[in-house]
Amino acid sequence: MRSVTEIISTHIVREGGGFKVRRPFRMNRVLSPFLLIDEMGPVEYGPGEAVGAPWHPHRGFETVTYLLNGRMRHEDSAGNSGELNPGDVQWMTAGRGIIHSEEPHEQFQKSGGKMHGFQIWVNLPAKHKMMPPRYQEISADVSPTIEEKGVWARVIAGECLGVSSSIDTVIPITLIHVKMQEGSELIQKLDSNLNSMIYVFSGNVAIPRGTGVKTHPQAFGLGVKQQISDGELGILSEGDSIVIKSNVFSEFLILAGPELNEPIARYGPFVMNTREEIQQAFFDYQNGTLGN
Ligand code: CO
Repeated sequence: MRSVTEIISTHIVREGGGFKVRRPFRMNRVLSPFLLIDEMGPVEYGPGEAVGAPWHPHRGFETVTYLLNGRMRHEDSAGNSGELNPGDVQWMTAGRGIIHSEEPHEQFQKSGGKMHGFQIWVNLPAKHKMMPPRYQEISADVSPTIEEKGVWARVIAGECLGVSSSIDTVIPITLIHVKMQEGSELIQKLDSNLNSMIYVFSGNVAIPRGTGVKTHPQAFGLGVKQQISDGELGILSEGDSIVIKSNVFSEFLILAGPELNEPIARYGPFVMNTREEIQQAFFDYQNGTLGN
């Protein structure tokens, strides 16, 4: 069983055109293979107030956008466009390069309303950083979900309670949105070699401590509270399952993926392995050869 080894609290930052996000990451730190977890909102926009992220490039990783409330519209340099509605997932592999805009849908922009969602950056291994860009979009009505014994889950990537995602990931990623009713329990199986974490955005959950405490106390988070609350990211120890109990209604993401063990060179929207590759990305962007 996995235990909580560290709790990281969110801080509020402004992104893109000025929208507020809760971010449980520090930019100088990577929780491999995740580079960023941004909770966009929840924010209540008045008519004409909603803001997004105007045209910008990406190279070397994937961006996952998951919308809970609101309506967004995206466009890219390859001529793709589409919209995201509540429950929809867009898994964008930037690979060698994409330039895109992520804006509130014009109707939402006019009417205003509640905007809430996530953008998560997933790193790519060196040998796939320059792969051709691709999109995978799963709308809410066809996304795999399951509900049993007070636990509801949408499986964005990986598997939960016997339900599998239809998203094809480059490296094995688990990304699950879970809602738990008061007094419910979830046992999530995970490959023991994957890093894992839980980001809570409503309520709080308890993670009963694993049984390996006596042999490796430091690896099992001795002295760390085994509870993750709203706005906290709990980093978990090794183990092949996570036991999650909730005494109140709680809502959270389970994230897992492999340790990439590769150097990271990062600048703004580019995440590569070396400084030279970052310089190349800037060069290609300015030259117009990124994103075509
Ligand atoms: Co973007």
